[in-house]
Amino acid sequence: MRNSKIVAIGHHVPENIITNQYLSTVMDTNNDWIVERTGINERRWMDPSKDTVANMAAKATRMALERAKLTEKDIDFIVFATITPDYFFPGSGVLLQRELGLESIGALDIRNACSGFIYALSVADQFIKTGMYKTILVVGAEIQSTALDITTRGRNTAVIFGDGAGAVILQPSDKPGILSTHLHSDGRFAEELYVKDPGSSRPHQERQPEQITDTSTFKVVMNGNQVFKHAVVRFMEVINEALEANNLSKEDINLLVPHQANLRISQYIQEKLALSNDQVYNNIMRYGNTTAASIPIALSEAWAEGKIKENDLICLAAFGSGFTWASALIRW
Ligand code: ACO
Repeated sequence: MRNSKIVAIGHHVPENIITNQYLSTVMDTNNDWIVERTGINERRWMDPSKDTVANMAAKATRMALERAKLTEKDIDFIVFATITPDYFFPGSGVLLQRELGLESIGALDIRNACSGFIYALSVADQFIKTGMYKTILVVGAEIQSTALDITTRGRNTAVIFGDGAGAVILQPSDKPGILSTHLHSDGRFAEELYVKDPGSSRPHQERQPEQITDTSTFKVVMNGNQVFKHAVVRFMEVINEALEANNLSKEDINLLVPHQANLRISQYIQEKLALSNDQVYNNIMRYGNTTAASIPIALSEAWAEGKIKENDLICLAAFGSGFTWASALIRW
């Protein structure tokens, strides 16, 4: 069976920087609370005149293609992870396909929230291994800011999330590449972190104009304590599962790129794995939590900063809404 490897990575974030200081002028919050609980100093929020999920994804893709000396025409399949597609349907995969000027290649959307990028990478890995495709574009891109309640009522989530996009190109290789992916979910906790509406579970009667309030659509609901408790356990489980499956140990990891959920979660994992600051890549301070985009953005920045070298063992891990959690081990 063939193997797959990441041949290039790229990312794009909106220009619009939202500082903690700015947020404290529009809601009852403050820099100290946000930094202490989440590690976030600033995040990027879309400019409606410029940014869409699909066009940010296209910019991230073009960076990856340039770095790999490939062109759009080389891509033969798209896997697009997002929970904030430009439209309720169709998904953003087809919009990206259009932006890239590609006429008929397949485009698959993945909706696994913060774990979405690793799920997408896993799907692409299988398609390469079976020989179905040769050059797959895997994207994680989100515009979270338009679903946030930017008032004191929404402060427990509004300060956390940001917008951005990351992309990787996957191709066949003799040696792996992607050593393994492990994917999990537990739907019993779906409502601990979710957006209910737009969703088809809402009856027509509740959709009468007088029943629609400004809080009834696109409100991110999060039970922060529950998310934290489950995240720290599942992150560790799925990283250990990956290491065991490959007969490797935590000492073999050169760089851990965790989903940028919350700096305190990343620091907890770092401590448990006894990794140094150089072995864990965090950029949540600058971008907040960008859900499916956080891992590819971090991977792209880590690579550009020279923190990823050939033959390094890279571990990706994520936990998020669903609950879902996942890991990928990569020999670079
Ligand atoms: N600014 C100031 N005060 C705030 C803010 C804010 N932005 N948000 C909430 N508070 C207040 C609350 O109203 C509450 O006040 P009260 O005690 O008077 O009722 C107090 O701070 C404590 O609120 P909690 O929600 O209990 O705060 P907690 O200490 O749990 O921190 C946080 C919240 C940071 C979300 C924490 O639960 C956490 O880290 N959870 C993990 C979940 C997470 O990181 N999610 C990220 C996205 S999900 C993912 O990617 C996996």
